[in-house]
Amino acid sequence: MNNSFACALVLAGGKGTRMHSDSPKVLKSLLGESMLYYVYKALGPSIGESIFTIVGFAAEQVEKAFPEMKDRFVLQEEQLGTGHALQMGWERIKAACVEYCLVINGDTPLVQESVISDFLESVKNDGADLAFMSITPDDPASFGRVIRGQDGQVVAIVEAKDYDEAVHGPVSGEVNAGLYCLKISSVDGLLSKLSNKNNSGEYYITDLVDLAVECGMNVTAVNVGKSIDMMGINSPFELAQAETALKLRTAEQLLKSGVTLHNWDSVVVGPGVVVEPGVEITGPCEIYGQSVIKRGAVIQSHVRIVDSVVESGALIKAYSHLEEAHVGSDCMVGPYGRLRPGAVLEEGSKIGNFVEVKKAVLGKGAKASHLTYLGDSEIGAGTNIGAGTITCNYDGVNKHKTVIGEGAFIGSNTALVAPVTIGAGALIGAGSTITKNVKDGDLGVARGKQVNISRTFKKS
Ligand code: UD1
Ligand code: CA
Repeated sequence: MNNSFACALVLAGGKGTRMHSDSPKVLKSLLGESMLYYVYKALGPSIGESIFTIVGFAAEQVEKAFPEMKDRFVLQEEQLGTGHALQMGWERIKAACVEYCLVINGDTPLVQESVISDFLESVKNDGADLAFMSITPDDPASFGRVIRGQDGQVVAIVEAKDYDEAVHGPVSGEVNAGLYCLKISSVDGLLSKLSNKNNSGEYYITDLVDLAVECGMNVTAVNVGKSIDMMGINSPFELAQAETALKLRTAEQLLKSGVTLHNWDSVVVGPGVVVEPGVEITGPCEIYGQSVIKRGAVIQSHVRIVDSVVESGALIKAYSHLEEAHVGSDCMVGPYGRLRPGAVLEEGSKIGNFVEVKKAVLGKGAKASHLTYLGDSEIGAGTNIGAGTITCNYDGVNKHKTVIGEGAFIGSNTALVAPVTIGAGALIGAGSTITKNVKDGDLGVARGKQVNISRTFKKS
């Protein structure tokens, strides 16, 4: 659904020189998601689908990361400044047939839905021709400085590089946050007046402020005080600061919702993760992607979970790694368990230390307690897999499947050469290399017979 009041333009074309990286700044990640992900997430509820994005540096990488935004990217071939970026997007904005355009810097991942909706609400009430958000951080750093006249009315934004105390007076501390709301009909005539005669040689979007003031338009700065929500990320240090802030913000929300966290400030939970109240997590620990952790699950420290589901009552012991896995209720994993994509543990099953599971299903109550690899396999309910069991699933060209029935017992140090099927209730002797199917209930043994040969020792 589109907002009939405003569309949005995200400025994401810059290289991010201060980041010293070959990839575009807006794709740098915080808690496993890119800066742009957070900006889109905050805009979505207020704006709907009319979100356009200026891309320039490594445009194809940015476009590839957000296929759902296809057809709403606008290429700024040369990055001649934020004002130039706006000029490039203007035709698309006008074609959106709305009254206002919200413009936001793409390097502001701390922005929240409420920041956008509150700002739009204040513009609606005020009817400004040009509104922008201002903040008063402890350090005005490289932010554009807001200049107000005697009467307190906004006069201009002067960029840090162009600020001269002798001309502009002492710095007030109020700076431009990089979020604007432009009445399209009012700003239309101002855009062509932007110039690049400044210390950066760039066209600044911020120059629209004094151009609008000169024309007698209604220009307002909505000051939100010290808030870090619109913090711009220009360097690795600022990225680290923002990521820490996001991590603590998320942990705080989890605690307030009823999740128990030990060592709470080292629990890292990505923005797409669902953690139900009643879960217990000990940091340091990382949970990313679309993971879901259900009520009553316990996650110990040094665990990394990506795009996985952990059902209620499951226990993930320390140092375990889960990726695209499904852990059923009351299961136990680890310590040092590794679940790779397609690992499914059904209710009450268990994998212990140094067990790796890939594209395999462990039936209810099945157990693999030590030092095992289970790949491309189906393991029946209640089956016990002895220490050191390996499914030999790869012949160098293709992957093959191992199927083990219910209630089977696989002795320690067994190699199951796939494709192979072990029947329900079958028993495999320890140390076997199994290449042929074993029927239900049968005993399969495939190992050299032990020979004891007496030896006579000669004293030298
Ligand atoms: C900008 C503002 C500054 C404000 C600060 C808030 C200008 C001139 N200055 O400064 O007043 O306090 O943000 O964080 O706007 N971009 C393009 N094309 C370009 C140049 C930049 O798309 O040609 C994009 C960048 O990718 C970035 C955003 O615009 O996401 C802001 O650019 P950046 O260079 O970070 O501006 P700042 O120097 O931080
Ligand atoms: Ca910036």
